Amino acid sequence: MMTDIQHAKTLLIEGKLVAIPTETVYGLGADAKNPSAIQKIYAAKRRPATNPLIIHLPNPDAMCDWALDIPKIAWKLAEAFWPGPLTLILKRHPDVPKIVTGGQETVALRIPNHPVTLELLNQFGGGIAAPSANRSGRLSPTTTEHVREELGDAVDYILEGGPCTIGIESTIVSLVGPAPVILRLGSLSAETVGSVLGLAPETLLPAVTNGHTTLETPGSSTSHYAPSKPLYLFEHETLFNIIVQLMQNNQSFSVLSFSEGLHAMLNPIVAAHSKWIAIAKEPKLFANQLYHQLRLLDKNESECILVEMPPNTSEWLAIRDRLKRASRPWA
Ligand code: TXA
Ligand code: MG
Repeated sequence: MMTDIQHAKTLLIEGKLVAIPTETVYGLGADAKNPSAIQKIYAAKRRPATNPLIIHLPNPDAMCDWALDIPKIAWKLAEAFWPGPLTLILKRHPDVPKIVTGGQETVALRIPNHPVTLELLNQFGGGIAAPSANRSGRLSPTTTEHVREELGDAVDYILEGGPCTIGIESTIVSLVGPAPVILRLGSLSAETVGSVLGLAPETLLPAVTNGHTTLETPGSSTSHYAPSKPLYLFEHETLFNIIVQLMQNNQSFSVLSFSEGLHAMLNPIVAAHSKWIAIAKEPKLFANQLYHQLRLLDKNESECILVEMPPNTSEWLAIRDRLKRASRPWA
């Protein structure tokens, strides 16, 4: 009998799509050297062909097969954080199919920290290109159920690895410019990355305003990581005013807040269709629950989702970034 990992490996070799567990979110994987397999990823996700994919590697030495002119700091970061939630942007090796890099001359590399996927990578030997296993623009999946919901039959096999422990996507650091730059914040903060490089966090986030990276990575269009129903973000005080306003209009809503539910004060009509989730006050736990909770709220009967904005401090920056991308302005 073949183990799940052997089966996944066979499918990758055949040019099929395999969803893979990682510590951040589930990925939609294919053989990074097989252009027609990569084409299937873009089709399954309905992702624009210009938005490049991350290549997942079995070990740091494999960087040499995918990148050129690898700077010393890449090895330093790899040693400090791989396997882990860090993606490095490097100069593309000419053997990397252009379809993987969305036509760019750079390449994104990462070693994920998940025993099942590390074993698959070691057995497969090559690189696995894998974006998050969701339809383009939607919330990343953190369980196999989410992957099924998002992709259904478009994925040939889903490798079970349990719920993702981190729950938000990797931190992306570009090493192709004159100085390292964080393109997307994830669970590794600018402080953590900076401490290894001996750089002040601000220098890694030159274009961050209000916790939001304005530097463009191809997939950082503002509407991203979003549920289907409208999501609105409010500071604590405003949130309660908005709730009163919605109740007066008999409009149902779901809430993700640091405060306990106010069901007692909701009128019965609104209460029947509304849901209140008191979310973790600690950033790592919050990140771990975020996409799962948003998916639950997206499926219930309420008309919109209201989220209380976490504090504007460095440990919340990545979460604030995702919430801003998931939200729309309150008209
Ligand atoms: O945690 C993660 O990073 C997950 C797991 C599966 O590894 N992957 C993930 O992939 O989030 P994806 O494709 O959903 O997001 C990767 C981001 C995209 O915004 C893409 O535009 C950017 O990385 N990216 C990929 N290659 C790039 C490159 N060469 N230069 C700049 N940005 C790049
Ligand atoms: Mg994604």
